[in-house]
Amino acid sequence: MKLWGGRFTKPTNQLVEEYTASIGFDKKLAEEDIRGSLAHVRMLGKCGILPMEDVQAIEKGLLIVRERIRSGQAEFSVALEDIHMNIEKMLTDEIGPVGGKLHTGRSRNDQVSIDMHLYVRAHTVEMVQGLTELRQALVEKAEEHIDTILPGYTHLQRAQPVRFAHHLLAYVDMFGRDVERLIDSYKRVNTMPLGSGAIAGTTFPIDREMVAEELGFDRMYDNSMDAVSDRDFLVEFLNHASLIMMHLSRLSEELILWSSEEFGYIELDDAFCTGSSMMPQKKNPDVPELIRGKTGRVMGHWVALMTTLKALPLTYNKDMQEDKEGVFDTVETLTGALALTVPMIREMKVKADVMKRNAEKGFTNATDLADYLVTKGVPFRQAHEIVGRLVLHCIGEGKGLLDLTLEELQSFSPEIDVDIFDKLQVESVADARNTRGGTSKKQICHVLDKKKGEINET
Ligand code: ARG
Repeated sequence: MKLWGGRFTKPTNQLVEEYTASIGFDKKLAEEDIRGSLAHVRMLGKCGILPMEDVQAIEKGLLIVRERIRSGQAEFSVALEDIHMNIEKMLTDEIGPVGGKLHTGRSRNDQVSIDMHLYVRAHTVEMVQGLTELRQALVEKAEEHIDTILPGYTHLQRAQPVRFAHHLLAYVDMFGRDVERLIDSYKRVNTMPLGSGAIAGTTFPIDREMVAEELGFDRMYDNSMDAVSDRDFLVEFLNHASLIMMHLSRLSEELILWSSEEFGYIELDDAFCTGSSMMPQKKNPDVPELIRGKTGRVMGHWVALMTTLKALPLTYNKDMQEDKEGVFDTVETLTGALALTVPMIREMKVKADVMKRNAEKGFTNATDLADYLVTKGVPFRQAHEIVGRLVLHCIGEGKGLLDLTLEELQSFSPEIDVDIFDKLQVESVADARNTRGGTSKKQICHVLDKKKGEINET
């Protein structure tokens, strides 16, 4: 009863059947598989390879099979190995031996590839939409917090005050690059492999342009051997997904840190947190923790596929069946992470007062005092040294730079004048960074407008 049984003298060993079957996971490709088959059979009719009545019977049969699968009534069989042969069998059960004409001029090798191209194409679009929504949410939060100042960190040590909008807009750009990458890879995803046969093309006078057009492909593979052995588009997708997850994990990590008592910068909405079975007081940021955790598996899928493909000879090898589960799991993992990050950002409560209080501590204005001395003619290296000693003095006294009197300041450098007290306020410190890409209010407002434009164009 195997579709390829003619050459065999024995039934397949049961363990082999189970070991080689992919139906357990590739049944996810049923819609794509039928879509490809419909386009293929219509083309066979148009090219006069199959009579129109056969084409109509097959089309009708495929639609019935599709309905049965959609409504969950279809039964898949491991003995039929994969989604392609399961569907072909369902078709012949439905319409009789004429169903066997569907596979004319086609191989599972170009068939599985078109299924994956269709699948990844749809999810590339979905990921771009998800990322755009996230960028939108971040831009809206940023707009609410142009005047919120927090310490910016390097080495997780307080560095310089930044506007919270500036911090959020950094993520807008990270996810913007992810969008760019997905859009760039779209042209490779949207390349049609069908019509390549098993490896070398087909003896039938098929019309690949017609199939490409019907399925919305912009272009097709120029080389049938490349077409059936290429999985670069999946590697790229996994790579982009890994980068997106890595970005989400960095955002998640900050949400986790910021919502700790130690930082106290934000409070995540109750609906997005969980409690402890033992400690009644706990409110845990499980969602960002899981996003951070799940980043590993997506990166793992990328490494796994690269390793599977490494040193594979042309063209199709059964190893390549291993391409699917990682891609499916990646789509699921990424979709979940994006769907949760968006409302988490929208609903989070920002504690601007705590942020500001921390920005005012930790000598985040020390660079500005050094820069001030430079404007008075002190060489930067010398200014750095003077302010370093001032900071050390303050640490000993348990004071900030702004707690010192003008006389105390002047005892370190006579160049310091009374105008320093304004210049060292966190708002002034932030706004002094008015170069392109800096954290001044003016620059941020400009960038906010630019990002809104980018988002609208996506
Ligand atoms: N289930 C197979 C896969 O996912 C489909 C292609 C099989 N082709 C073959 N010649 N065995 O890779």
